[in-house]
Amino acid sequence: MKPVLMPKNNTMTKNPIGVMDSGVGGISVLKHIHALLPNEPLIYVADSAHAPYGNKSQEEIKQRCFAVADFLIAQQVKALVVACNTATAAAIADMRARYDLPIIGMEPAVKPAATASKNGIIGVLATVGTLQSAQFAALLESYGRNVEVVTQGCIGLVECIERGELDTEHTKQLLQQYCAPLLAEGADTIVLGCTHYPFVRELIEQIVGKSVTIIDTGAAVAKQLQHKLSEQSSLNPSTEPATIQFVTNSPHIQANKVIESLWGRPAKIQRLT
Ligand code: DGL
Repeated sequence: MKPVLMPKNNTMTKNPIGVMDSGVGGISVLKHIHALLPNEPLIYVADSAHAPYGNKSQEEIKQRCFAVADFLIAQQVKALVVACNTATAAAIADMRARYDLPIIGMEPAVKPAATASKNGIIGVLATVGTLQSAQFAALLESYGRNVEVVTQGCIGLVECIERGELDTEHTKQLLQQYCAPLLAEGADTIVLGCTHYPFVRELIEQIVGKSVTIIDTGAAVAKQLQHKLSEQSSLNPSTEPATIQFVTNSPHIQANKVIESLWGRPAKIQRLT
């Protein structure tokens, strides 16, 4: 039985698309969505009061995902993007069972990395929650069999990015510490398995050097969303640029500043308490 909670009319082409993350990381995915679908109104929810998800139990993450999705569905979204690898691994199956609308999730790009790697050694940077999930184990089983996969949980990195510390000594030290084992094993391809990490991609590139390929899934997820909407004839026909609404429950005074700096321009931000 499908749930009670669903948009009143999920085929309405002009309805917004909901994008959610444990915090500000999913803005890296939102940018790809907006670039590909500039006429689609978007509502982005940063559940920053509860970030990081990566060290929470699967049950806690599910409850947070339900709370955020209920909020977005009350705004009549026509599709949901779970712009968080950790939340996707913990909750997407239950969300799809609970809500009757297209739900697009994220997973670390092990498959493209295995194809891209020349020496067959790939590294995955992600949260501990993602790396310990059954979904990640299944991903390795399907696509990681013919390559060596070196995984590294990046404790504390999401918190740095939530504070907007993209280039501090502390962030650099954490990245050096987390990239070192991948380099020591000889990884020639590194997967950014958390949507916060594209915001420190330049630092990662400086540490690992130009010969290492870095893979991020934001663009692929935007394409998948476009495909899904087109399949359901629910792409917005408007030619007007759409509004992008940010919602955050962050208790931190600098939250708006962090969102605007990651988004790269002034943003319409609603603060929830
Ligand atoms: N952006 C989330 C992800 O992709 C971060 C998870 C967290 O809050 O720990 O995994």
